[in-house]
Amino acid sequence: MTVSVEPTTAQAGETESDQALRPHAEDAFAHELAALAAQDDRPRPARWRLSPWAVATYLLGGALPDGTVITPKYVGPRRIVEVAVTTLATDRALLLLGVPGTAKTWVSEHLAAAVSGDSTLLVQGTAGTPEEAIRYGWN
Ligand SMILES: Nc1ncnc2c1ncn2[C@@H]1O[C@H](COP(=O)(O)OP(=O)(O)O)[C@@H](O)[C@H]1O
Ligand SMILES: [Mg+2]
Repeated sequence: MTVSVEPTTAQAGETESDQALRPHAEDAFAHELAALAAQDDRPRPARWRLSPWAVATYLLGGALPDGTVITPKYVGPRRIVEVAVTTLATDRALLLLGVPGTAKTWVSEHLAAAVSGDSTLLVQGTAGTPEEAIRYGWN
């Protein structure tokens, strides 16, 4: 069977985001990110849009003082998110390692959206990339 995939072109009045298969995290959760930024009075690392606390709250979910509900993005141990965010707040890189389908990419996109406001700044490795290549080859 041959499946042909036609490149899509934007119709009149249609934007690139209208065509997206799913919206970027910073668009889908723009309301939550704006509410967090407005109510976050904790210190923010240089060039971070939110404090580490607010980034972790964005990932794990919670309620803000004004009643805004932050939906959980990652369902799992809080500790993993707290360690990930803390690691990024230092001058170290964060390496998420695990079997496929355990939300590594998902968490990375949401972390990028919360920290920088742009989840497209993502370099996606493949299952064929050995850990050593990332650990020692990445700069
Ligand atoms: N612990 C989790 N919490 C929330 N969503 C999850 C979780 N684990 C898997 N998912 C869902 O599964 C999808 C696939 O995960 P993905 O990030 O692509 O995995 P990985 O990059 O680790 O292979 C995610 O987009 C998310 O919707
Ligand atoms: Mg992945």
